[in-house]
Amino acid sequence: MGFYRDSIYPQLVSHLGDPPPIEKLRRRLLPDARGDVLEIGAGPGVNFGHYDPTRVTRLWALEPNAGMIRLAERRRRDTRLNVEFIGLAGERIPLADACVDTVVSTFTLCTVSGILDAIRGIARVLKPEGKLIFLEISRSADPRVQRWQRWWEPLHRAAFAGLRLTRDLPALLEQGGLRVDQVECGYLARFPKSWAHCCWGSEAALGLGRRPVDLRDCMRHAPASPCAADWISSSVVPRPRLEQPTRSASSVSRAETRRERSSR
Ligand SMILES: C[S@@+](CC[C@H](N)C(=O)[O-])C[C@H]1O[C@@H](n2cnc3c(N)ncnc32)[C@H](O)[C@@H]1O
Repeated sequence: MGFYRDSIYPQLVSHLGDPPPIEKLRRRLLPDARGDVLEIGAGPGVNFGHYDPTRVTRLWALEPNAGMIRLAERRRRDTRLNVEFIGLAGERIPLADACVDTVVSTFTLCTVSGILDAIRGIARVLKPEGKLIFLEISRSADPRVQRWQRWWEPLHRAAFAGLRLTRDLPALLEQGGLRVDQVECGYLARFPKSWAHCCWGSEAALGLGRRPVDLRDCMRHAPASPCAADWISSSVVPRPRLEQPTRSASSVSRAETRRERSSR
């Protein structure tokens, strides 16, 4: 299992984890990262090339898998980013409170085992005006796809080191204390729909008037197979604001973080 996890799994993620629609979303979301950035589960470093090095002061790349770090180290050499690798898990982020401007998670919150600990850690380290950028596999709203997601999940967990298909990520982000105003969802890859349902969000998805990503040219890559016929049905899912003062997906206040800690 050690050999699979350290050598084969990193290659699988490196080769399968960035099909054209996903690459396009990375290209749209990641240039918004700025200041001191924490990337959780940086994997083989596929996001590195999408950051704007003039805006990112430093990048903490948290990644518990040494094989992934080896691949990411190669990608880092092609950038001008100031990257510091941290070989630890996202459930215990070894950074001070409120010291990060942007947290990035792409296909990691759907993988970590302690999802709520990881989200609470993200809320803790974000500065008051900070934001979370996320792109994750998530439970589909379609009950038929959900059934297939439940069916495939054990295989994905085994093959991709714990990857879940059935997490309701927006709900979990709120449960972990972040406020998610708006999330976009879609079937994003040349795989069966039950493998490819993703949700994503950032400041750009929080009603700031940014044009939603235009995925039409990704349709060139859509396969003819019936399972993925409407894979590109991207939709916007507004979520109601909670009445309680909460942290937004893009900001966490120190006072609220303190309140949360004292109530735990
Ligand atoms: C599907 S890969 C995604 C990699 C990369 N973020 C991307 O977008 O391609 C999931 C990553 O999460 C990492 N991971 C798994 N468990 C983790 C944990 N508890 N904390 C942080 N990262 C974790 C894995 O090692 C892997 O690099």
